Amino acid sequence: MEEVKTNIEFPRELLDEVQRVVGMFPEGKQKSALLRVLHIAQAHWGHLSPDIMDYVARLLHIQPIEVYEVATFYSMYDTAQVGKVKLEVCRTGPCMIEGAEKIIAYIESKLGIKEGETTSDGIFTLKAVECLGACGYAPMLQAGEKFHEHLTEEKVDELIEQYRQNPVANYMGLQK
Ligand code: FES
Repeated sequence: MEEVKTNIEFPRELLDEVQRVVGMFPEGKQKSALLRVLHIAQAHWGHLSPDIMDYVARLLHIQPIEVYEVATFYSMYDTAQVGKVKLEVCRTGPCMIEGAEKIIAYIESKLGIKEGETTSDGIFTLKAVECLGACGYAPMLQAGEKFHEHLTEEKVDELIEQYRQNPVANYMGLQK
């Protein structure tokens, strides 16, 4: 894999990881590594700006549009800066029936932001997303790697307080 020199560039260890992931696929099928490489890029830079997506395209020898299509399709990718904690509330049928709209409205009023916005302290971003596969536990939201289920206003209060104290608690490996 050709290394590209620009001001946007993975550090050596992440380039090695990209190379390892690309190497899992047959020659000429490096596009198959795109989802994983975008995760690595988002974890490193916090979001996927056009410059970052162009960089990923060059690394994988694919067209920038092929990266944009994927990055803008999946709600797990952010093409603009977001807060340290993304509260992704499912708004699909079963969750909606169980009160997702009320939960979204409650979070909006509690944090003083609208869906799609980030709090001024940079901690929380609120997103409404499609089914996260936990329909039996509706209404629910995802924060980082953690699902919060059967949401109530009290549960929302608790989890917002928890993340305000420790914004990385949403990553399971770091949870207490
Ligand atoms: S509808 Fe909300 S998780 Fe499936």
